[in-house]
Amino acid sequence: MNRITISLIKADVGGYPGHVSVNPQLIKIAEESLKEIKEVSDLLVDYKVMAVGDDLQLLLSHKKGIDNKEIHKLAWDIFKKATNQAKKLKLYGAGQDLLKDAFSGNIRGLGPGVAEMEFSERESEPLIVFMMDKTEPGSFNLPLFKIFSDPFNTAGLIIDPSLHNGFRFEIIDILNHKKIIMHSPSEMYDILALIGSRSRYVIKHVFPAENSKLPKDEPVAVVSTEKLYQIAEKYVGKDDPVALVRAQSGLPAVGEVLEPFSFSYLVAGWMRGSHNGPIMPVSFNYAKCTRFDGPPRVIAAGFQISDGLLIGPLDLFDDPAFDLAREQAITIADYMRRHGPFEPHRLPMEEMEYTTLPNVLKKLKDRFLDVE
Ligand code: F6R
Ligand code: MG
Ligand code: MG
Repeated sequence: MNRITISLIKADVGGYPGHVSVNPQLIKIAEESLKEIKEVSDLLVDYKVMAVGDDLQLLLSHKKGIDNKEIHKLAWDIFKKATNQAKKLKLYGAGQDLLKDAFSGNIRGLGPGVAEMEFSERESEPLIVFMMDKTEPGSFNLPLFKIFSDPFNTAGLIIDPSLHNGFRFEIIDILNHKKIIMHSPSEMYDILALIGSRSRYVIKHVFPAENSKLPKDEPVAVVSTEKLYQIAEKYVGKDDPVALVRAQSGLPAVGEVLEPFSFSYLVAGWMRGSHNGPIMPVSFNYAKCTRFDGPPRVIAAGFQISDGLLIGPLDLFDDPAFDLAREQAITIADYMRRHGPFEPHRLPMEEMEYTTLPNVLKKLKDRFLDVE
């Protein structure tokens, strides 16, 4: 069996200007470094460098499995190198996501985001890579639920008998560091009871059902769920999550995987990581966060995996079929912006805990008197 690991490792190592985009020089550094590694070692089968907003994205295919020290180290070293250049250019927040200084075997917990999965490459293996900026991992809850559980989204859940067994969701309770695996459709209502609270419960993996023909322990989707504020103990931006989703032949079709993004739903993040706003599906060309540092964006890169080679990317939202979602996003952005500092545009108090707002409140603390 031809097992392959796909690792998407990403970090904001300096914005240009502010938190808008990644400077092309950083992309070049990452590309040149990966080219050299591929030439001189057998670590990588293939690689692609991409960017959304201020996040530099390294997509790597290899045979080393997930959480591999050598793979994580090479990504870490590239982010370090890019940070040096970012510092030279005085890019904004150079090295922002490299929160800890020393690499000790695994990039998780150091700042960068990681989504990776190992699986047996099928006869034909379509893969969609989603990359979001100015939002949090829970922003993948809604689309992943729709893709793997909602028959109004995914026709295959009705039409294709191989999808009738459903899927299993691994959901993380971010607050208590616990995880649970739940089956859809049999536990659909309980799943929604959790994942509707997108800042607390986050889908980490989707697996085939126990009785599926696909290997049941090989993920069909994975989301990066690192929480920067827990690492840094202060606000350093939302996590700007990424996800890998496999498609077709007993899994949702590419079009079913993209379909949830025809609706611009609300996510948390945007300006200062403190606002609810619409997620806007855009082409690579528009993957820069401008208005009010946003609105939050998502790009989708389509690949076929061929013996580990990454055939692609195809810029999947570069399509007028998503124009209405973009228009909807602009309308919602306008509507939300008119609330200014008021909730629910601004996030609720509990979620502001990790921003700079508590410093403002501290200043007022002593001026509060008891109410009779
Ligand atoms: C959101 C984000 C930006 C910054 C904002 C203020 O994730 O990164 O919206 O929060 O531009 O940035 P500072 O405090 O660095 O001036
Ligand atoms: Mg930034
Ligand atoms: Mg970012």
